[in-house]
This record gives sequence, structure tokens and C-alpha cells, in this order.
Amino acid sequence: MKPIEVRNKIFLVGAVDWAIRDFHGYETPRGTSYNNYLIVDDEPTLVDTVKHDFAGVMLKNIRDVIDPAAIRHVIINHIENDHATSVDRVMDAAPAATLYMTERGKKGLARFFDLSGWRIKTVKTGDELKIGTKTILFIETPMLHWPDSMMSYAEEDKVLFSQDAFGQHIASSGRFDDEFIASASLAELDDAVIDYYANILMPFGSLIKAKIAEATKMGLELRVIAPDHGVIWRQGPGRIVQMYIDMAEGKAMQSVVVIYDTMWRSTEQMTQSVIRGVKDAGLDCRAIKLRATPMSVAVKEFWKARGALIGSPTLNNIPFPTICQFLTYLRGLRAKNRIVGAYGSFGWSGGAVREVYETVREIGLETFEPGVETTYRPAPEDEQRCYDFGAAFAEKVREYHAKF
Ligand code: FEO
Repeated sequence: MKPIEVRNKIFLVGAVDWAIRDFHGYETPRGTSYNNYLIVDDEPTLVDTVKHDFAGVMLKNIRDVIDPAAIRHVIINHIENDHATSVDRVMDAAPAATLYMTERGKKGLARFFDLSGWRIKTVKTGDELKIGTKTILFIETPMLHWPDSMMSYAEEDKVLFSQDAFGQHIASSGRFDDEFIASASLAELDDAVIDYYANILMPFGSLIKAKIAEATKMGLELRVIAPDHGVIWRQGPGRIVQMYIDMAEGKAMQSVVVIYDTMWRSTEQMTQSVIRGVKDAGLDCRAIKLRATPMSVAVKEFWKARGALIGSPTLNNIPFPTICQFLTYLRGLRAKNRIVGAYGSFGWSGGAVREVYETVREIGLETFEPGVETTYRPAPEDEQRCYDFGAAFAEKVREYHAKF
């Protein structure tokens, strides 16, 4: 098969996973890819590996370019299973190779493999590897998004191998941003970027800003950003970096998302009135019923909007289980810069709305209080209260959004 050249003898040799829909519990409706890269020079160098199921595909792709036995260096930017669990297959095929990773990468990888038979060099920010005409610079990125994480940079070609950062869960035959935009759309690509950021990188906004500032200070020019998932940024590397800066700074749409669940449709009925209130107050509003929607999609929609209204019935004095699950996920993601209101129905004693607010305050998000509650079934006056609540929330979102 024809090798895919990223730039000047740098080849994409990874695999496309068209079938995956559950990525460690995260919904991936577009599939994904495990990208890794072969740099052909006097001392051929492999950057990252792939998920173990795809080791054979990767080795075949390498063979389409060179004999894997010729590989002299293998860089492990990140040890998570989807990138490093075929290191053993690579080392079998390339026995002369030396592995390069951070100190914490080595410590972590030792939990997956017996490292005693492999040559390993640990690296830190600023270290360089000369492989012939090309030079590889290492940049540690601890907690972006694991302690071991680093990036590497092909200096002469100005290609950044960014591991998970700037990635997207997309399976596509066109492996570059411009190809994907031509066959699908820029909006779909942006949606995949936001989905990935919201579900994986949301907790690390401050670190992301600091790392981008550090890279700018180092004077790294970026012609191509080559992540370990999804399309490669050869047309718009500057645009994706700016998107990351914006997201790290809390950029959102001046809109509202309503995230709810319902038992006997009372909270759903309240939801209809809340949505009309928001809409009539002039803001766009999207509703997500949690029981009908993957959690990762709900989090993406939460992240896109400046304001969220959470609707929950009371079950056994606490919020409905899907709402509890959503709030737990949000707590782990350390969501910021969003404002939240709550509403819901209950029978004989409430609890859901109070507990939603308690959790939202613990997470550190702004709240719009008090919420709205009804008993058993919303009466016309309850629907009016919900409508008014939605409209007042929209006004508050507008005011809060102006701070950003
Ligand atoms: Fe794509 Fe952190 O693994």
C-alpha cells in the first residue's frame, strides 16, 4: 500500500479503528485512530506505538516503508494502553532499537512489561536526539494528561508529535485536517475536537495554557501538529492551538443546555416550559435527556454552553441516578466557568434540587438560585414558574457570559 507521508520522510504508520464505540467508557460514534509515526533518516525512529490489537497493522505499515529491524530509536510519548501496549511487538521486530521516555514513563511502563531486556534512555525537556539530518527535541508535559506524558518535535521539519493533545476520536480515510473538512465539514471536525477536550482535557486548562506559553517561549514553529488520535493538522495548526487556548480560558457559547431526566414525565413537562422561557428570553437552548444520551455527549454539550439547567426528579430523597452520575463525572472533570440552575419534581419530600445545588457548589461552579420544584404533577401555575425561571436564567447567563 502507498505510505502516508506527513512531511519530508515522516510517515503515518498507525491504524484506524472504525469499529470502536466504547473508548474506556467514553462514547466514540465516529470511531478513532491510533496514530504513530516513522521518521526515516540515517537512524530510523518510531514515534509512539498503537493499541495492541492493531500491532499487526502498524508493523505492516512500517514494512511498506522500511524493514522494521532497521529502526534504531522508539520514542514513547505516552504510556497509556492505546499507545504503548504494542511496545513488545515493536521491540521484537526492532531488536536494535533504544526506547526513549520520561522517568515517570519508564516507571509506569514497567507495570506493563518486563523492561530488563530493553535499552531505555530517559529524557527531559530540552534533551535532543540526532538521528541523521533530523533532530528530535523532547518536551515533558506532565499531567497532560498522565504523569508520564511528553511531546516530541522534529526540529528541521517543524512537526510536533503531540500525543493525545490536539487529538480527536475520528476514524477517516482522509488522515489530514484539510481532507476531513473536504469530505465532511469543519463544523464536524470542531465538534470532535470539543468532544475530546471536554471529556479528556477539561481538568487541565491551566496546564494547557502554561505549556502553550512555554512552547511559544521556546520559539517552536509549528508547520504540522501530529496527534496520536484523529486527523493530522497540516492546514490549520495555528487554528487548533488557538482553539485550545480559548477552551483553556473558558470560552463557551452564550447559550443554555438543559440536562435532565424524568420518571413519570413531570420533570420532562417542566423542561418544556424551562426551554420556552430560555428561548423567549433570546438564548439558544438545547435539551439532553440523560437516559437517552451517552454521558460523554452530555458533557460535551455542557462544555459548549455558558449556562446549564439541570432537571431531576427526586428518587429516595436524592437526585435521579443518571443525574448523580453526570454530576460525579463533572466533578472529576473539574468543570469551570459555567453557571448552573436546577429544577425538578418530587412526590412527598424533595431533595434532588437541593442536592444538585450542593454538588454544583462543591465543584466550584456558579449557581443560579433558588431553583424550581413542583409536587407530583406541574399545574399551569408551575409551568409558568418554570417558564419564568428559564427566562430569568437566560438573563443571568447573558450577564455572566459578559465577564469572559
Ligand atoms: Fe490516547 Fe491518554 O491515551
